[in-house]
Amino acid sequence: MMKSLIVSSTDQGTWDIHIIKKEIPKPSKNECLVRVKAAALNRRDYWISVGKYPGIKSGVTLGSDACGVVVEGDDKWVGKEVWINPNQNWGENPEFQSGQYTILGTPKDGTLAEYLSVPTDRLKEKPAHLTSVEAAAFPLAALTAYRAVFTKGQVKSGDKVLVTGIGGGVAQFAMAFAKNLGARVSVSSSSDWKLEKAKNSGADFGFNYKHENWLVKASAEAGKFDVIIDSAGGNALNSYLKIIKSGGKIVMYGSTTGKPEHLDAFRLFWSQASILGSTMGNDDEFQRMTEFVARQQIKPTLDKVYKPDQMVEAVKSMKSSDNYGKKVIQFLD
Ligand SMILES: NC(=O)c1ccc[n+]([C@@H]2O[C@H](COP(=O)([O-])OP(=O)(O)OC[C@H]3O[C@@H](n4cnc5c(N)ncnc54)[C@H](OP(=O)(O)O)[C@@H]3O)[C@@H](O)[C@H]2O)c1
Repeated sequence: MMKSLIVSSTDQGTWDIHIIKKEIPKPSKNECLVRVKAAALNRRDYWISVGKYPGIKSGVTLGSDACGVVVEGDDKWVGKEVWINPNQNWGENPEFQSGQYTILGTPKDGTLAEYLSVPTDRLKEKPAHLTSVEAAAFPLAALTAYRAVFTKGQVKSGDKVLVTGIGGGVAQFAMAFAKNLGARVSVSSSSDWKLEKAKNSGADFGFNYKHENWLVKASAEAGKFDVIIDSAGGNALNSYLKIIKSGGKIVMYGSTTGKPEHLDAFRLFWSQASILGSTMGNDDEFQRMTEFVARQQIKPTLDKVYKPDQMVEAVKSMKSSDNYGKKVIQFLD
């Protein structure tokens, strides 16, 4: 039996999460069994825990990210330390995911358990410069940031880039990747302490989006942006249209604050700007992200490391968004 964090429906028609003992899965023909060393949380796990995600199934183990050791399956992989591509069935078209696409950890069992069985073609060797706790922080968030920065934003050296909500796990990787490409990176946040931390790790400018005049400050200090990478959505989209350069790109991979009430269509067409949607990344991008991280020796920002018995507390703590980087559960030393 193994410890596992599951979501289940309540008698009141809501959803909640619990740690239970589950059977260790038996890998089928094209699968490998991975002993999880560390697993990271994503906002997706929080959305699922409160019932705000499509396709939630009672009894399913949460979690999309893990680093572990292969203990059963293909001989070529047994004994290797791996991280796992959370994409399932992206499909043939690199531009967008297929109708069959899912992400590890809903509707299929995910990584917040002591063991996990996954298709062998989802495994990649862990980059050698990372510990297992550090490696667990990468897959979903770094893949999302990779597509947003490289494929959609096409960020290049010298570009002025704004990454919003720098406390977020994806935002942290977006900043690290854009800096690595030689961009001038500004960040925004709800908290001055997060802005200070970001500046200490390389951000060129920081703006508190809770301050009324942050757009004026951003234009005055950083100038207009070639690329804005955002997951807040909502009415902030119209603010971004005021600080995007003519012909610039606004890449949106989330909508934490919901839908915008209106769109400033005039600024959009007059600025010749593009608003680009981005979700996760295809398998080729996962491979390129893995190579890039290994080559450039990129490290994650860890918010907090939890013990397996603290999994419920860790997911619930995401409600406040007071994180700075990734929350990781460490199963093994
Ligand atoms: N499409 C995809 O493939 C994909 C993949 C991953 C995540 N997402 C979505 O992207 C969002 C972030 O995910 P995550 O896992 O990185 O989250 P996370 O680590 O939980 O971080 C959430 C961060 O969002 C920021 N935030 C909250 N309200 C904001 C606002 N009004 N404006 C700007 N930033 C705001 C906060 O940063 P500050 O306190 O610094 O402001 C907070 O630290 C979520 O909505 C998630 O569902 C989408």
